[in-house]
Formats: sequence, structure tokens, C-alpha cells
Amino acid sequence: MTKKGRVFSGARPTGRQHLGNYLGAIRNYVALQAEYDCVYCIVDVHALTTVETTQDLKLNTFEMALDWLAAGIRPDESILFVQSHVPEVMELHTYLSMVTQLGKLTDLPTFKEKIRQQPENINYGLVGYPVLMTADIVLYKSDVVPVGIDQAPHIEFAREIVRSFNYRYDTKALIEPQVKHTEVLKVIGIDGKDKMSKSLNNHIELASTPEETIKRVREMVTDPARQRRTDPGNPDVCNVFTMHKIMSPQVEVDMINTECRIAGIGCVDCKLRFATNLNKHLEPFRAKRAELVSQESYVQDVLHDGGQRARAIAQKTMIEVREAMQLP
Ligand code: TRP
Repeated sequence: MTKKGRVFSGARPTGRQHLGNYLGAIRNYVALQAEYDCVYCIVDVHALTTVETTQDLKLNTFEMALDWLAAGIRPDESILFVQSHVPEVMELHTYLSMVTQLGKLTDLPTFKEKIRQQPENINYGLVGYPVLMTADIVLYKSDVVPVGIDQAPHIEFAREIVRSFNYRYDTKALIEPQVKHTEVLKVIGIDGKDKMSKSLNNHIELASTPEETIKRVREMVTDPARQRRTDPGNPDVCNVFTMHKIMSPQVEVDMINTECRIAGIGCVDCKLRFATNLNKHLEPFRAKRAELVSQESYVQDVLHDGGQRARAIAQKTMIEVREAMQLP
């Protein structure tokens, strides 16, 4: 079957994935495989802009790849690889940096946010982050980049860099990527407050056991105004209800929506229902993950093979790029 074009997306190696990663990105990556030729990259080089040590990088890359594969990334169809395995991206990054205005990079909201987050480590790589991201995308001649709303300015920026490059060297060697806005699903953590993230420890790990999952779900913050079991609740402000809407059968959602408001169902029961549905949903993922773990070196082989396939595309692009630039 001919596909509609090439999708590229990248994510930093954050180790074991959580429900927020799954609902916000991975699920979408899996679905896109049906329509597109997909290239998915674990961006370890980008990670270097923020980490203090590289000691967890290998394990985090491995665990993330494992979760992606267990969730349904098909390595025979798609390319799953590690950014640093294709060093051509660093070369392209350098060339692209010369057609990128520094002031535009330092003006980006994501850069300003990083300055706030790590004022003691405003490194050169941090400024060039979106240029490296552009190199990722265009190296593989990607047509479409699925990203969340926070990354959308980076893709717009990538398009500008591509136009500058193609104009400067009078070429069509680089393709302007299109953004594909993923269904905006901001998953709130178990604290009921912030976006689910590992660093805030408000996450539910996909690979956790059913018992651990129940324990985490029990900790979820519900409608804060509902103090006692006999108080009526408001599902509209309850994160557990939001999760039910994503995860549970419609009849159950409707029942909770009605019963919570009249104190017909309590939070403990409501959470337990969610945990049960979540565990059921994650059953195939967990089974697949266990199977992959038992196949020693399988994940490493997948990443190695993906790297080689990615590199073959990258090398072709770089020949065109160097030619267009008339490098001696
Ligand atoms: N910047 C992305 C993030 O922080 C990760 C990333 C790197 C990426 N290269 C990319 C995303 C290319 C899409 C396309 O989440």
C-alpha cells in the first residue's frame, strides 16, 4: 500500500512511559503507522541540553523504546532509532545554524522558559535546540510532524529555516514540514493539578503492576469540595471523571456522571472502577512488554537496525545538501 508521506517525531529519553505520554503521543504514533511511513526518534542529543549526567541515558532510552514497542510501534514497518546513531544530524544542524538568526532563537517562548528553569546552565546547545530539531525533521525528508501545541512554534520555525536554506542555496533539497496537531490531550497527574509528568511524580506508569496502578489511582485527587462520602460531587471538576471519559465505557461514564452528583457513588468506588478499566486496557501492553523483556537484546537489535535504515536516508540527503551548498 502506498502511504501518504513520511511522518517524523521525536521525544527525549525519559525512561518508562506514563499514561500522559501514552494518551498524548504514543497512541497517536501507533495510529499514524497505518497511513504514513513513520520515523520515530529517541532524541538523546537533545536530552544533553538539560541533563547533568548521562548515567541514566542508556537505560532511559532502552526503557522508552521497550514501552513504545509494547504499545504497538511496529519496527518492521516504521523506523525506531536513537538520534546519536545518525551523526549526520549534527552536521546538518551546523549548516542550518548559519541560516538561522540568533535573535529569533532567543525570542522563542520555549527558550525563555528554559532560562527560567535552569538559569545556571544556559548552554549553547539550548539555544540551538530548535535548529537541531529542524535537522532531525528535514534530514529524513519528513512531510508531517505530529506534535502537541507546545511544540508547534518549533515546527513553524523549522519551516522558516528550510525556506532560508533553500533560498540561500537556490535549491529544493529540503522539504518544508507540515504540523499535524495531535488531538489535544493534556493529561493531568494524580495531584489533579499539573500536567502528568515523571519529574512531578504525579504519574501512572504504563509498566507498573495492576496492584501498583490501583494504589496510584487511589491517591488521585477528586473534587476538593467533596469532603464526605455523603456530599454530592461535581464530576466536571474531577480528574478521575476526566479519565473515565477517556478510558471507560459510555454507560459507566453516564452512570458516574449522574450518581456522583447525588452522592450515589463515592470516590473510592469511582476510582476503583477507573483502575479496573485502566488495568484492563493496559493488559495487552503489559503482556507484550513482558514478552519483549524476555527476548534478550531484541530492543537493542531493533534500535540498531532502525539506526542503519535512518542513516541510509540521512546520507542521501546530506549528499544533496553538500552539493546544493557547493561545498568544495
Ligand atoms: N523538541 C521535542 C520535545 O521536546 C523533541 C524533538 C526533537 C522533536 N526533535 C524533534 C519533536 C523533531 C518532533 C520532531 O518534545
